[in-house]
Amino acid sequence: MSKKPVKKQTKSKNKEKLQEIAPSEPAQVIDLDEEAVAVGEEIPVELVEPAHQGLGMRLHAVNVRFPWLKVALLVLLAGSVAFGVEELLRHNVSQPIGMTTEVNVETNEPEEQTPVQPEKNNVGMSEEKPAEETPEVDEKPEVEPPAPEQPTTPVTPTVPQPSTGRKLVALTFDDGPSAAQTPRLLQILRDKNVKATFFVVGNMAQRSPDILRQEEAEGHEVASHTMTHANLNKLTVEGIKWETAAINGVFTDILGHGPSLTRPPYGNINNNVRAYVNQPLILWAVDPEDWRYRDAAIVRRNVVNNTFDGAIVLMHDIHATTVDAVAGIIDDLRAAGYEFMTVSELAAARGVVMQNGAAYGSFRP
Ligand code: NI
Repeated sequence: MSKKPVKKQTKSKNKEKLQEIAPSEPAQVIDLDEEAVAVGEEIPVELVEPAHQGLGMRLHAVNVRFPWLKVALLVLLAGSVAFGVEELLRHNVSQPIGMTTEVNVETNEPEEQTPVQPEKNNVGMSEEKPAEETPEVDEKPEVEPPAPEQPTTPVTPTVPQPSTGRKLVALTFDDGPSAAQTPRLLQILRDKNVKATFFVVGNMAQRSPDILRQEEAEGHEVASHTMTHANLNKLTVEGIKWETAAINGVFTDILGHGPSLTRPPYGNINNNVRAYVNQPLILWAVDPEDWRYRDAAIVRRNVVNNTFDGAIVLMHDIHATTVDAVAGIIDDLRAAGYEFMTVSELAAARGVVMQNGAAYGSFRP
């Protein structure tokens, strides 16, 4: 009740002012002003000038006749606002319809990025990421392109390609020397005049030092497959150092020099392996899974069908079936135009200077 006089004062003041300033057209402003200020009050009809009798007059008439209409409209407005606020609050809690769109917008950005990341990972990041997040991931061959347990995806069809230069391949044999199988393999390689690379286990070399000497004497490359065929990703730094130093000692005892390349067992590599093996890490591009397929024909087909120019082929000279397959592999690949060489020769032929701690699975042209 105390407000009423104030409103009336301002009303009349406004009226006077406006009439002073613009006496010819005061009604327009007054009309609006009064409507805004004096809600619910009756407005003298004489304030409304004839010039604005259109819509303004009708509204006034309605206002006069149905004063409760404004109140009803206000109640409706307030009700709908309150309803809207309540809905908003609910949505904030449970995130239904309204929020999901926004959430989708937000998650879309990461989602669009995540598919890209694997690609980036493959190129450069993969070696570090799995190591930091889950050490176990490192143990799986995912770390590097060629993986032992991953069925090696056929990289390039074998079928003789249009020869634009030399076609080179490196056959490699792991886990020996085997007193039972390796001499037979050496005989085949000699007969075929093929040089290969042997990644020997230190323990095995200790048992068959003569075979290790023979491998090197016959022009093959001999390199490290660690002392005990350890999963280097599971070892401490000290463990990695020991594996490396131990096979280095065995090589030096038998051959008078240490190995200059290492093939980490299972293809497992992490940053400690890179740092403390401190040699070029040789993986592979073709894996016939000869440990799984003890069948010379299958091994031969798997190698021949997946070999490409510059490939490093993984085999094991501890399996009779693998050795049985080698002569046919050599014949097939030679017929397809391939030259056989050691890993180091292949890298050199492709102009690659191998770096310590870096991993290599092939040397493409
Ligand atoms: Ni092995």
